[in-house]
Amino acid sequence: MLTPNKRALIMGVANERSIAWAAAQRLKLQGAEIILTYPNDAIKKRVEPLAAELGAKAVIECDVSSDASITRCFEQIKKHWDHIDILVHSLAFADKQDLEGAFVTTSRESFRKALDVSAYSLIAVTREALPLMKSGSSIITMTYLGATKVIQNYNLMGVAKAALEACVRYLAWDLGSKGIRVNAISAGPVKTLAASGVRGFRSLLDSVGQMSALQRNITADEVGKSTVYLASDLSSGVTGEIHFVDAGFNTGALRVPDAKPQAD
Ligand SMILES: NC(=O)c1ccc[n+]([C@@H]2O[C@H](COP(=O)([O-])OP(=O)(O)OC[C@H]3O[C@@H](n4cnc5c(N)ncnc54)[C@H](O)[C@@H]3O)[C@@H](O)[C@H]2O)c1
Repeated sequence: MLTPNKRALIMGVANERSIAWAAAQRLKLQGAEIILTYPNDAIKKRVEPLAAELGAKAVIECDVSSDASITRCFEQIKKHWDHIDILVHSLAFADKQDLEGAFVTTSRESFRKALDVSAYSLIAVTREALPLMKSGSSIITMTYLGATKVIQNYNLMGVAKAALEACVRYLAWDLGSKGIRVNAISAGPVKTLAASGVRGFRSLLDSVGQMSALQRNITADEVGKSTVYLASDLSSGVTGEIHFVDAGFNTGALRVPDAKPQAD
């Protein structure tokens, strides 16, 4: 087992399609004990049965847009655990209207909300988790290529992911002296609740499926497997990294439709 008896706090399961759910399942398979969080009662209803299925230690409310909610969440966690080995931050938010059309129309309030939930929350949650984390602990968040390249319609979330990736690097240097690692997985597109908010997501999946090196899309489970790698001792020398799990899409510039496959 790669994470035997490790205590993994997983934030961001909304349903069985969530990347966080794939991570939770893979970490559990490797021997980790799991606590899940949810932001509100609507998501709680969906998460509770999944937590039961997984045999999670607890399911706790945590709306990352509220410092009070984060504090209450960690007070609850401390009733179950005296430390945390693994923190998976797999959550983001932007208004649907900001995931389509013109980026220039982004409002100040939308920008504030998206950056707050999708990027600042990593800092806020890490700060609360820190007293419970010791050397060898690992923090993992989820990002997307839209942070560094324009992906049409990804718009405001691209800016939020750019901020999130910078947070990963600064936190990695902050926590490095404590032996705590901070990394991000840059996942290829996966059909989830959050992804379906991006206009034209179906076409994006089709294009990536054709244009990636592996000529297919990735699965949430593949992100879950890489989460285990970043959570475990296998990646003990890795921090501050953006690790792509995208079937190689980011390494290419274009695919020439009638070119012969490289290996033929
Ligand atoms: N699906 C993709 O194509 C893809 C690709 C790359 C990166 N990601 C990232 O992966 C992460 C997980 O998204 P997903 O695709 O699994 O979708 P998802 O909808 O299953 O998960 C998003 C989660 O964010 C949570 N959330 C939103 N606002 C919150 C708040 N205020 N407090 C606490 N939680 C809140 C939701 O409850 C939900 O569980 C996100 O950061 C997303 O940007 C997704």
